[in-house]
Amino acid sequence: MLKTSLCDLFEIEVPVILAPMGTCTSAELAAAVSNAGGLGGIGSLFRSTGAVKRDIDMVKKLTNKPYAINHIPQALDAETFRYTLATRPKVISFTLADPGDMVKQAHDVGSRVMVQVTTVAQGEQAAAGGADVMIAQGGESGGYCGEVSTMALVPQVVDAVAPIPVVASGGIFDGRGIAAAFMLGAVGVNLGTRFIASKEAPAPIEWKQAITAARSEDVKKFDVLNDISPIPGTVGFPTVLRSIPTTFLDEWSAKREEARRDRDHLRGQIVSTTQAGRQHECLLTAGQTAGGISEILSVAEIMRRLVDETVAALAQAPEFVETPSQRMRAGKSRT
Ligand SMILES: Cc1cc2nc3c(=O)[nH]c(=O)nc-3n(C[C@H](O)[C@H](O)[C@H](O)COP(=O)(O)O)c2cc1C
Repeated sequence: MLKTSLCDLFEIEVPVILAPMGTCTSAELAAAVSNAGGLGGIGSLFRSTGAVKRDIDMVKKLTNKPYAINHIPQALDAETFRYTLATRPKVISFTLADPGDMVKQAHDVGSRVMVQVTTVAQGEQAAAGGADVMIAQGGESGGYCGEVSTMALVPQVVDAVAPIPVVASGGIFDGRGIAAAFMLGAVGVNLGTRFIASKEAPAPIEWKQAITAARSEDVKKFDVLNDISPIPGTVGFPTVLRSIPTTFLDEWSAKREEARRDRDHLRGQIVSTTQAGRQHECLLTAGQTAGGISEILSVAEIMRRLVDETVAALAQAPEFVETPSQRMRAGKSRT
């Protein structure tokens, strides 16, 4: 089994977090990950108050394990946040902006606070603001992400916010990636795309199949989405959506001025296709990890494989270190 300080802090068995994906979230998916020993997460971005409240009510019925509820400070739905506080989840997470005094409000009800950051400066800000855990999200990630790669970002955030624990996000789809994240100083991982390609994910089959078919180099950042649906107040959190290309994204990327003018209509198109379960016609949000994902599996199977692969990868680590006695036996002189 795997065990890190994150397991003790969040009272989970496996240091794997389901990314709270606003556009691919459900109580059922969150509970499946929590019941498999990880930390399930429920997203709120682009969702109605009723839908998030329903998931908050439902997840408690589906699992007695810890889970997280995610909020986007500058797009905050005050009622949903109040509801979140009232139900006192183990973890409340924030993304895309500094949560300010919401950290204290979360602490006051006994929740742990986790903040996703894309730069060292954001990490330092969140640390000063009282975050208990930081997610360092690399630019390979699915969804809205920054520029710096996971490999470069994680160790820098680890150093900058120590002793606050850091979780790595982006570019990780299997146990080798999890082992690598540990070597970078992370104590857990936050995975999105891998779980979209799960049987339990509330995503159309076309989206799941697009992920299993995509190569990493197919998955691009689409600035045009910020023309169509700008997230307010992301100053200091520059962020662009990463997706597998769709006709919609390609078409409007070629005429961004028109997309800005037609913003309301295009946003309406995204919302109505999403509500009709056909969001893949507009967006196929995914990370570069898509290239490494080839099967749609159950959450329990994904979790089982992640743990086994991580243990196997970590077991190889000593092979890369030559001990003094090995050097002696090999007849080599000092270093
Ligand atoms: C479809 C999708 C939606 C996302 N929505 C959110 C969100 O609402 N809140 C959030 O904190 N992160 C969100 N993310 C980003 C994830 O937290 C995470 O950083 C990312 O999925 C990691 O990259 P990966 O998808 O390659 O594993 C989203 C990611 C995806 C793929």
